[in-house]
Amino acid sequence: MSSLSFPSPRAAAAEPRPVLDPDAIFGHLLRISRALAGKLEFQAAIQAVSDELAEVLPHDHLDICILRRDDVHVAYEAGLHTDWGRHLHTVPVRRSPIRSVLLGDVPFLITGNAMEDPRFGFEGAFNDPIFSQRLRSRLHAPLLVRGEVIGAFSCSRHDADFYALEDVTIAQHVAEMLAPYVYALGAAEEARRLAIEEAEGRAREEGLRDGALRLTEELERERQRIGMDLHDGTLADLTRIARRLERLCESETAPREALEPIVDGLQRCMGELRQIIDDARPNVLELFGFAEGVEDFLGRALLEPRTGIAWRLDDASEGAVDALPAALRVALFRIVQEAVNNAAQHAGPSLIEVSVERVEEDGTPAIRIGVRDDGVGFMPMQQRRRVGGIRNMQTRARLVSAAFTLQRRADGQGTEMLLVLPVASAAGAVR
Ligand SMILES: Nc1ncnc2c1ncn2[C@@H]1O[C@H](COP(=O)(O)OP(=O)(O)O)[C@@H](O)[C@H]1O
Ligand SMILES: [Mg+2]
Repeated sequence: MSSLSFPSPRAAAAEPRPVLDPDAIFGHLLRISRALAGKLEFQAAIQAVSDELAEVLPHDHLDICILRRDDVHVAYEAGLHTDWGRHLHTVPVRRSPIRSVLLGDVPFLITGNAMEDPRFGFEGAFNDPIFSQRLRSRLHAPLLVRGEVIGAFSCSRHDADFYALEDVTIAQHVAEMLAPYVYALGAAEEARRLAIEEAEGRAREEGLRDGALRLTEELERERQRIGMDLHDGTLADLTRIARRLERLCESETAPREALEPIVDGLQRCMGELRQIIDDARPNVLELFGFAEGVEDFLGRALLEPRTGIAWRLDDASEGAVDALPAALRVALFRIVQEAVNNAAQHAGPSLIEVSVERVEEDGTPAIRIGVRDDGVGFMPMQQRRRVGGIRNMQTRARLVSAAFTLQRRADGQGTEMLLVLPVASAAGAVR
């Protein structure tokens, strides 16, 4: 076995060690296990082990290294405090002088002088602190959990040829006691790290949602400001121009046929502009709530005799949408508005239905809003020329963490837009 190829005879040791009887050794090991039971902190634990081992396994330096998934190991130490222990180095296993123990190739490793032992001094080896601290005599035993190596226990002395094969047994007993302890601490540390990561992730997500809501509020304010400017400025100007044109049409000198289409075009423009302004200004939504807002909008957008489209609003939400922050409510309203406008403009339907209800999605309370039409049906992507409105709906939905789908209805009759907003997460955004 390769671990035995470099044992050093005890004979060369500077001072003979007192021989301990098995009961004394057992007593020390028992105290180590008791000391470990009370220590929740790694450094304190290995210090306790070091103190208790001083007599049974004299040493200048003790360390414990742990294997991590990505083939690196981390050391904890007692006795000498080296740079190696202070900075919690991670090193690829292949560069470790004790890789044969870590890889499970040998049951232990012993050397009388690591500084001259090629197993420790190979090309590319990470042998700090062995060389810098001149730790010549070394003893290493694997930490085993359910037959798998999870790390190693190491014990060293400055003087050469200190340890003998009897010491290997003691080191292996210590490693046996340490292994489950190290494993449990590692698992607890991992759990703590995951908990912190999760909490950070949640905070980040909530921060994002807060930011998104503020952005929605800003956009909404800006939209209303533009609406008012258009009303007070541009629409007023256009109205004046239209009147002047009308007067020109009535006079004898003007070429009527040339002017009439211009007047018609202008009036159409003004109609569209009025619609934009109506949609943008503070409205029924803010004054009376979501359902009223949607009803008012449906009425204005579809009741004009020229559309001939019937509509129905089915509100079973018990005011759930109005309990949401204002910015969130507005975002939902804008999405419904675009879905209804699209149905009216592109589907040629006879009926548009809007539904608002409370549901449970994966055990979480949610608000579900549907907009359905019985028109021509939603075209596949490549046949559509423009996607601005749909992209806006998707973006708004993503900003408020709502699931958005737009698809041909299951019965093949027209299109259905579905919006599902988990209420727990929405409520989390209310501050
Ligand atoms: N309810 C619908 N029924 C049929 N086609 C639709 C419907 N909604 C959207 N579409 C199609 O998707 C396209 C993209 O919609 P949108 O992104 O809102 O842009 P725009 O409304 O400006 O055309 C529309 O031009 C239309 O072809
Ligand atoms: Mg559109």
